[in-house]
Amino acid sequence: MEQATLRSWPMVTDSVKKRPFPPSRPSRRAPVALLLAPVVVALAMSFSAAPRPAVAQPAPGAGIEREAELTYLADCASCHGDEGEGTPRGPALAGVGDASTHYYLSTGRMPIETPDTKVRRRDPAYSPELIEALVEHVDRFGSGGPDVPHVSPEHADVALGGKLYRAQCASCHTTAGAGGALLRQDAPSVYHATPTETATAVRAGPGTMPAFGEAALSDEELNDVVAYVDYLASPQDRGGEPLWHLGPLIEGLVAWVFGLGALVLLALWIGKPT
Ligand code: HEC
Ligand code: HEC
Repeated sequence: MEQATLRSWPMVTDSVKKRPFPPSRPSRRAPVALLLAPVVVALAMSFSAAPRPAVAQPAPGAGIEREAELTYLADCASCHGDEGEGTPRGPALAGVGDASTHYYLSTGRMPIETPDTKVRRRDPAYSPELIEALVEHVDRFGSGGPDVPHVSPEHADVALGGKLYRAQCASCHTTAGAGGALLRQDAPSVYHATPTETATAVRAGPGTMPAFGEAALSDEELNDVVAYVDYLASPQDRGGEPLWHLGPLIEGLVAWVFGLGALVLLALWIGKPT
């Protein structure tokens, strides 16, 4: 194919050169061409990236709703059922509540590949907009469970949040919030959770974590706890800035190892026979 074009190319140019230019005379086709030109231009524009007429566009928001519906059918329905009714591969989602769906999607815990895949924090599989739309979609299967709480950590009592955290959460997540994978319950570290993720975890009670209803933690107290968790995650508080904020214990260890090491090297250097 390519060779053919290469070989025929000189012939084409030759014939173009040899052919005498037709004598110019007024063509009867010219007025028709002039009339057709705008039509051709308009057609070309409609095939280009120019915006389509508004009529063909679905109403704003409908696109993402449809995308959520299709995503649910493709990525979730095989385990949770077309209408969230549940299957032997996954629990029912009808009535699970927006907080739970939001938590599982925004912390990347869902979707999983097989029903036995370990449910753990990962990068979210979807954009925040699609997550919102998926939460809405699952919500249509049935209501009942807790909603996504509105939190504003900047207007919170962090000290009170700390008290509540130590009383209600530290037994599993440890006082520092580092998580207790080796201690009990396989509770993850709380450092990576956004304020909304922490709030949805507390209200939804994912996995073996208990759900804390408003009787256990009022909305205001929840806000305080969320602010404290946020504060735990921002490391200035525990010191040790250059050491990944691991705190005084590690800092001491590093001082010993490097400090003593340096002293030993110095002693060796001084004692070296010259
Ligand atoms: C391969 C099967 C599978 C797929 C695919 C899957 N899930 Fe799940 N899902 C599970 C299982 C199993 C659990 C229970 C996990 C647990 O509790 O540790 C679960 C739990 C959940 C929960 C918590 C339910 C509750 O009772 O609190 C939500 C919400 C959820 N999934 C949403 C989704 C969404 C949305 C999708 C699609 C984006 C999805 N899942 C894809 C198997 C699946
Ligand atoms: C009985 C132990 C237990 C208690 C008490 C508990 N949690 Fe949890 N928490 C867990 C477990 C287990 C998970 C992981 C659940 C899952 O998704 O499978 C978790 C998940 C979380 C996460 C999500 C972390 C992430 O990055 O994905 C946050 C945030 C959290 N808990 C905060 C809290 C707060 C705040 C409290 C107190 C109000 C609390 N937890 C009380 C066991 C506990």
